[in-house]
Amino acid sequence: MSKLNSFAIIGSGFIGSFILSAFLDQVPLPSTIVVLSRDPESKTFPPEVKVVKVVDYNDVDAVAKILTAYNIDTVVSTVGYAGIKLQKKMADASKKAGVKLFAPSEFGSPTDDGAPSYYASFQEKDRIAEYIRTIGLPSIRFYTGCFINNSLLSITGVRVNGKINIIGKGQSPVSFTLEEDVGGFVAHVLTTLSIDSLADKIFRLEGDRATLRDIAKWYDKEIAYVEAIPGPRSEVLSMLSRVFESGAGSTGWNFATNREGEGEDAAGSANHFWRGHEWKGIRDVITQF
Ligand SMILES: NC(=O)c1ccc[n+]([C@@H]2O[C@H](COP(=O)([O-])OP(=O)(O)OC[C@H]3O[C@@H](n4cnc5c(N)ncnc54)[C@H](OP(=O)(O)O)[C@@H]3O)[C@@H](O)[C@H]2O)c1
Ligand SMILES: *[C@@H]1O[C@H](CO)[C@@H](O)[C@H](O)[C@H]1NC(C)=O
Repeated sequence: MSKLNSFAIIGSGFIGSFILSAFLDQVPLPSTIVVLSRDPESKTFPPEVKVVKVVDYNDVDAVAKILTAYNIDTVVSTVGYAGIKLQKKMADASKKAGVKLFAPSEFGSPTDDGAPSYYASFQEKDRIAEYIRTIGLPSIRFYTGCFINNSLLSITGVRVNGKINIIGKGQSPVSFTLEEDVGGFVAHVLTTLSIDSLADKIFRLEGDRATLRDIAKWYDKEIAYVEAIPGPRSEVLSMLSRVFESGAGSTGWNFATNREGEGEDAAGSANHFWRGHEWKGIRDVITQF
């Protein structure tokens, strides 16, 4: 049963920092943890982490050389939206360097099997997954649903007008996972499961499950039925709110059948791989707002 033990994390932004600290919490520590960053000087990293500057991810040979030098077997991409397309080059470099598993930046709702065109960023993530498949690089996708601590309150627009803003009826169940649980799960499964049980799989997490109406009720907030989420970043937040309304905010959602998957394809079906872990729920994290 062959396992992975040298990891490169691409990017060190919001969710990337949770993934990195979770890798550093693993006992025993993986043999190698490397962070690739365009601007390593902008942050401080603990001494166990090797940080390597990448000037341009389009330079496939240069990136492949770094991965080869550290004998990397697993690449976890945590790039933000601006870097999604560049992951083709990152995958090319990984393939060239003999990487055994590539995790593209997902960390949200399902993106496979036909997300409609008005969810352009989902389609882009799926095209990356498809590309990785065509070059014969084994991959893994993590669906986490909405991040509890950072994203839930933004998507409801509650900070703008004090109300839970809902596009539609707000009765579709949505998956939520705490950022620390996302990082912990990724590090746990990548360091403990065999390559065979990880390769070309989708892991569907769910720390909690709720409708927007449930959330309004739990926190005794007024609901506003709106056409768009008010405030800054209205366009992207409204898109995400429509994803929730459609049912696709659940990590078990299947765009092809327009309903929830079952068994291995159900929301939260991967939770059990982190045996004994107590997943945080929305009300454990957000006590009031
Ligand atoms: N489920 C949710 O609620 C939720 C919320 C937020 C994000 N997400 C998802 O999580 C993933 C990561 O998002 P994030 O918010 O953590 O990202 P982020 O903080 O915006 O960016 C992560 C890192 O990506 C690298 N990066 C950014 N632009 C790049 C570019 N053009 N080329 C190469 N690298 C680039 C940067 O690393 P360096 O500067 O070190 O190179 C950056 O620190 C995305 O797939 C996003 O959709 C999900
Ligand atoms: C939630 O985010 C806030 C602000 O970033 C932070 O202070 C707090 O520790 C976080 N809570 C959890 C449970 O992650």
